[in-house]
Amino acid sequence: MKLQKLSILSFKNISQAELEFSSGINCFTGSNGAGKTNLIDSIHYLSMCKSSLSVTDTQSLRHGADFFMLQGDYSSDGGRHESVTCSFKHSGGKKVKRNGKEYEKLSDHIGVVPVVLVSPADVFLVNEAADERRRWLNAFISQLDKHYLAILIRYNNVLAQRNRLLKQLSESGGGNELMEILDDQLIMLGTSINRTRADYIERLRPLTAEYYSFIAEDREQVEITYRSELNDRLFEEILKSNRQKDLVCQFTTSGIHRDDIVMKIGGFPLKKYGSQGQQKSFLIALKLAQHRIIAEQTGEQPLLLLDDLFDKLDVNRLERLIALTGKGDFGQIFISDCNRSRLISVFDACGVKYSLFDIEDGDVTVTQKAEEA
Ligand SMILES: Nc1ncnc2c1ncn2[C@@H]1O[C@H](COP(=O)(O)OP(=O)(O)O)[C@@H](O)[C@H]1O
Ligand SMILES: [Mg+2]
Repeated sequence: MKLQKLSILSFKNISQAELEFSSGINCFTGSNGAGKTNLIDSIHYLSMCKSSLSVTDTQSLRHGADFFMLQGDYSSDGGRHESVTCSFKHSGGKKVKRNGKEYEKLSDHIGVVPVVLVSPADVFLVNEAADERRRWLNAFISQLDKHYLAILIRYNNVLAQRNRLLKQLSESGGGNELMEILDDQLIMLGTSINRTRADYIERLRPLTAEYYSFIAEDREQVEITYRSELNDRLFEEILKSNRQKDLVCQFTTSGIHRDDIVMKIGGFPLKKYGSQGQQKSFLIALKLAQHRIIAEQTGEQPLLLLDDLFDKLDVNRLERLIALTGKGDFGQIFISDCNRSRLISVFDACGVKYSLFDIEDGDVTVTQKAEEA
């Protein structure tokens, strides 16, 4: 997939922009706070119907404006043209249109324009609790598998019902037929989610290791594995044996909502034993693995967004990353960095062409087109 044109109106600090992109590498440079991340985020928004930062739509609305609008013109690798519009109004809420037609459900848009984002915020995946990793995994699989997203939404609904019921039962006591019905649904949905997650992590595992060793030239082996109670025991058994505990706790203490992805380097937890540079390289490798799987499965190269390229990477690793992605194997790429001259020197050292955009206070201007480079 290639983003050919992007229009922005009143999105964060960008009041207005009309941009045309190269089908290869596009770089955004500008000082801190200029709007680089906001620009990258607008591209993410058009794919995922939401900001990649944990902000509400209202917070993405430029101060003082009462609506924002993003529009992207894409050409798919299969030659299709796609036009996507996302708009948000204070009063009227959010609307997403594909080729002029409004979606009834935003979730139907996920996957139409696949995207993979690498950003400094990714360290959450290493440092934070398991729900961050599950959120990432869910977003990844949802771009590929509509069925998965639908099942996940149903699972969460049933889980919420079951938790409400546990509260009622623990207050009023006694057994309940409804509980059996909910358990049956939870088992069916949870087991399906467990299988799908296991399958994707199994595919991510060798690719992540391969990209890591290329970028980091590290002797340390990295590994990701899927941790789930459902890997070892039937969900039915787990729910049964935890019924009393659930009643006491008043919520469902087991299930795929407790899953995790375990990340290791040299056999030890990445969070504790990986240096910042190793963690960053790991995360980039994981995202490139994700990119490759999406491309293989859909035949569409996702847009690759690399926000703050130099974040925690030394020049050697960076050059290997550019050497890897700059050959075209990763499709269209959007890169941001605050230091223009070091960015240019890395590209020149790697001999790749790129378009260059300067951002200042939310104003974006094109300073070099890849074709003319
Ligand atoms: N809703 C908004 N309206 C106007 N400005 C905003 C809004 N949200 C964020 N900003 C501004 O955007 C700037 C940050 O832009 P960002 O893209 O993160 O910069 P960087 O170029 O460093 O990545 C800050 O100055 C912030 O005040
Ligand atoms: Mg930034």
